[in-house]
Amino acid sequence: MTNAADTQASLELVLKDEIIRMYEEVADNPDAEFHFYHGREAAELFGYSTEWLDRAPAGAVNSFAGVGNPHERANLRRGETVVDLGSGAGLDSIVASWAVGDVGRVIGVDLNPTMCLKAQAHADATGASMECHEGRMEDLPLPDASVDVVISNGVINLSFQKRKVVEEMFRVLRPGGRISITDIVSGKQLSQSIVNDPKLWAS
Ligand SMILES: C[S@@+](CC[C@H](N)C(=O)[O-])C[C@H]1O[C@@H](n2cnc3c(N)ncnc32)[C@H](O)[C@@H]1O
Repeated sequence: MTNAADTQASLELVLKDEIIRMYEEVADNPDAEFHFYHGREAAELFGYSTEWLDRAPAGAVNSFAGVGNPHERANLRRGETVVDLGSGAGLDSIVASWAVGDVGRVIGVDLNPTMCLKAQAHADATGASMECHEGRMEDLPLPDASVDVVISNGVINLSFQKRKVVEEMFRVLRPGGRISITDIVSGKQLSQSIVNDPKLWAS
């Protein structure tokens, strides 16, 4: 490995630990102070309906950490198979499962097994047909051409390998499949001190 590749590999490891720490903290301690919108307040801001937020388990709503509303343009239909990249505490997967119904399938993918267990418990509590798979969006644990729609909310910005994430989305999508993601994009080059700060990457 070159020095640059070594540096990137070790930064990625530090970042993974920080991502695990940060989102477990949101899930375990949603009332704590975070420097990003989260929970019901964030979901309302992004246009999630009151009906959804009242119907979903409080744990999934309070720990919501998305940055927008991927459901607005997903146009999910009954019977479709959906993958939710970085499903967190599960709110987006649960909302998607209501749209695809019991004949559809929602697969959450999260690198953190603890978050996967939480999302699965939240989905099971509402009878939502969601299954969470532990895995990385850079290497999706899914076969080629196996899903109709990819959704994701505030997760791709966390990756060091965004091109790989995009390649994986296209690999798992069936011909004619759709992508509906909400995420953060910077209009200007970030300084090296920001890029090298795992806390800022992770949030
Ligand atoms: C911003 S939250 C997701 C918000 C979620 N959509 C919701 O409804 O609350 C971030 C989640 O993405 C997961 N994550 C971060 N990087 C990931 C990666 N490379 N692959 C899979 N999951 C990842 C984290 O473990 C965390 O649970």
